[in-house]
Amino acid sequence: MAADYQTPYKGVLGWLDDRLPVINFADQHLRFYPTPKNLTYAWNFGSLAGIILVIMIATGVVLAMHYTPHVDHAFGSIQKIMRDVNYGWLLRYIHMNGASFFFIVVYIHMFRGLYYGSYKQPREVLWGLGVIILLLMMATAFMGYTLPWGQMSFWGATVITNMFSAVPIFGDEVTRWLWGGFAVGNPTLQRFFSLHYLLPFLIVGAVLLHLVALHRYGSNNPTGIEPKGQQDQVPFHPYYTIKDLFGLGVFLIVFSVFLFYAPNYMGHADNYVPADPLVTPPHIVPEWYFLPFYTILRAVPDKLGGVVLMFGSVLILFALPWLDRSPVRSGRYRPIFKQFFWLLVLDVIVLGYVGAMPPSGIWPTIGQVATAYYFAYFLVILPLLGVFERPKPRPHSISKPVLSGSAQPAIAPASPAE
Ligand code: HEM
Repeated sequence: MAADYQTPYKGVLGWLDDRLPVINFADQHLRFYPTPKNLTYAWNFGSLAGIILVIMIATGVVLAMHYTPHVDHAFGSIQKIMRDVNYGWLLRYIHMNGASFFFIVVYIHMFRGLYYGSYKQPREVLWGLGVIILLLMMATAFMGYTLPWGQMSFWGATVITNMFSAVPIFGDEVTRWLWGGFAVGNPTLQRFFSLHYLLPFLIVGAVLLHLVALHRYGSNNPTGIEPKGQQDQVPFHPYYTIKDLFGLGVFLIVFSVFLFYAPNYMGHADNYVPADPLVTPPHIVPEWYFLPFYTILRAVPDKLGGVVLMFGSVLILFALPWLDRSPVRSGRYRPIFKQFFWLLVLDVIVLGYVGAMPPSGIWPTIGQVATAYYFAYFLVILPLLGVFERPKPRPHSISKPVLSGSAQPAIAPASPAE
């Protein structure tokens, strides 16, 4: 902020803004912030994810006041929250279902980015920060699920931490180090609780950087063409504040339906049975949002191979901006890409479905085919499409869409930095 900054505000606000220009900052980044005028509801999910993050932290902090991270008391303390703490049931159900909805919202947010090429130059770092957020969310959710110390908590933690024993040479050491003992036990629960409290704040930090990167070049939009001046943009407020609020309203209605009518729909009944290291549940499944990755893990019969493939399926997203070589950003003008994209959406749903099935009969084969398509999409199809696909004509600017009968429908410059 330059020393010659003159606040436009008067009175107390002016006095404060002169010394701490937060009002100016909010004006620049929320009020007058120039935003493409053609953003659809697909652009609602980023702000929605931010709101859910706040809800998760707020409910989590209060839950932690009543939760006891000890193997002898954890399960009971959750029951106490549900029965004895004022509105404890509500807090817990918001936090529990909030995790599921957080993933739904962030997955939609990501697929929006995949379809409209929002990961392309110059937004590679914005995208990469998103992938870091996703990894942090996964770690947080995994450790959070251990805390109620039910059967699925215990056995899920056992299965996932055991994966690290596949690490060559140091595998067993690493696993014991994670456990803090010779099996999942009290030290594991306590460190998971500590990290489950810490990581959301790292997510907040990563989200802030995500927004700094976003505001460097501004939002992408459905045409993938950068706004050319004022005729293509509107101020963020009131246009998008009101649109985001409307989206929040719709979200809250859907969320409430689950919260009040089917709060355990997305959970697993076995987690209402206290953890018992001597009784393995017949069917150990992770939470639904991990199921596609679980299928990829099981797609190779080799333990290390499965673990590498599973981590690879997320890490590959970092390389995406360089794997997709097409000069056209938005899927709207990419006829062949579009079909492969929707096949990827279907593929991830199939991966999720197979993850919930026992690894017998036809399921492992379907899982392997779906895993192969997942990797082929990023490593083969996108690079090839960049070379061979003939894109459709694109408008010169957001304000002049080709199909509106514009006088000069022509292909815009063949560079992603349009
Ligand atoms: C806590 C989770 C997250 C929060 C709070 C968040 C927040 C936001 C917000 C507020 C926006 C601007 C509004 C919008 O475009 O929807 C945005 C844009 C974006 N986010 Fe995220 N995000 C999160 C996770 C992710 C993840 C996991 C990815 C991808 C791996 C990602 C990739 C992007 C991209 C590429 C954009 C620019 C989209 C465009 O302009 O078309 N974000 N994010």
